[in-house]
Amino acid sequence: MKEIVPSPPPLVRNDAAAVQALFQQNVVPSYGRFDIVLSHGSGIYVYDIAGRRYLDLGGGIAVNSLGHANPAITEALVEQSRKLIHSSNYYYHEPQGRLAQALVSLIGPGKCFFCNSGVEANEGLFKLARKFGHDEGRFEVITTINSFHGRTLAGIAATGQEKVKKGFEPQVPGFRQVPYNDLTAMRAALSPATAAILIEGIQCEGVILPATPDYLFGLRQLCDEKKLLLLMDEVQCGHFRTGRFQSFQRILEGVPGGEKFLPDGISMAKSLGGGFPIGAFWVRAPYADVLGAGSHGSTYGGSPLACAVALKILDVIQREKLAENVRQVGAYFKSGLEQLAQKYPGVIQTVRGLGLMVGIELTPNIPNLPGDSSKTQAVRFVNLLHAAGMLAIPAGAQIMRFLPPLNLRQSEAEEGLKLIESVVAKLQ
Ligand SMILES: Cc1ncc(COP(=O)(O)O)c(C=O)c1O
Repeated sequence: MKEIVPSPPPLVRNDAAAVQALFQQNVVPSYGRFDIVLSHGSGIYVYDIAGRRYLDLGGGIAVNSLGHANPAITEALVEQSRKLIHSSNYYYHEPQGRLAQALVSLIGPGKCFFCNSGVEANEGLFKLARKFGHDEGRFEVITTINSFHGRTLAGIAATGQEKVKKGFEPQVPGFRQVPYNDLTAMRAALSPATAAILIEGIQCEGVILPATPDYLFGLRQLCDEKKLLLLMDEVQCGHFRTGRFQSFQRILEGVPGGEKFLPDGISMAKSLGGGFPIGAFWVRAPYADVLGAGSHGSTYGGSPLACAVALKILDVIQREKLAENVRQVGAYFKSGLEQLAQKYPGVIQTVRGLGLMVGIELTPNIPNLPGDSSKTQAVRFVNLLHAAGMLAIPAGAQIMRFLPPLNLRQSEAEEGLKLIESVVAKLQ
């Protein structure tokens, strides 16, 4: 038989340089990548192709909710792939219906739409806002400075960071940013064209900054008063990362009236699929049918395979009481970092976080920090962590984020703290 597609040239195994050369020649260089070529993982550990082991406290940027190669995820993938991988959204299937039911029962009365990523979930919310305001000529979504909402054109227009917008002008119209946790600024920013407000429950791109209870209550009141949708991006801070399903539930825990609080729309992704791509948004009951038949869609959205994985992850989180684990191990890890900040103030300036979303801010101008001085302190520090055998996520020029799996054990957190101290002690 005639070969139509030539087979690719063989790759030299265990040769990092060969893999990197494939990227340099064939992959769009839109990411700044670290000098690590990964091969496989197991639980909290991930291995490079030379067999070097890393404690992965980056969690694939809050995605690997059950760690690497979790057998429950493999089982769900295998079982569902034997039945039905994809069907299109012309038809009904049980996994999507059950996943929507599970998310609704974890949030509140409403309905869900499924897609494939965080930014696609946010795009759905933007369309919801436009449809909601359409007949009154309202289309604008007010977001916040330092927010992050994804990389599509509307995603970068919504994002409150100049660096992600630069070079892609003109911006999609209808987005403006105001300071976070500032109700007065939000109220002042509203115009007759405003249809919605979108905030992250916790701003994740700087040192982790949660919304205050007063801000959440105030925004709810403002939206009710002005007939606006209150939208929340829980892509990174949701899915039990704080010890409750959504971050606002954790922030408002124990606050009078907190259990009654609900936004009108919530975007989700990342930990929802534990590494299998899936995104979703939930919309509160009164607005659940605003996006009617034919108004929105996504070919792969809510495929049987993706939904089976997400359902299995929810099942494991419940069975293994991982929400409680997040609180306990998260508090242990954070307090360990705080002790390091006290011991090494010349290196760690602040520690912030909730559950297993913890950030450290480095002290500016650490004199002994090795590495290319054209790179940020955060990148240089992460390189040192890599050399010590740990993965973490840089989140700004001076900031590091740890977003480990929800099943992180205390012993693994302890191992992480020792690795971090081994790096920090040399810089003090
Ligand atoms: C808060 C937040 N929103 C949206 C996104 C975009 O998600 P995705 O990269 O899956 O499109 C991210 C990704 O980091 C995020 O952290």
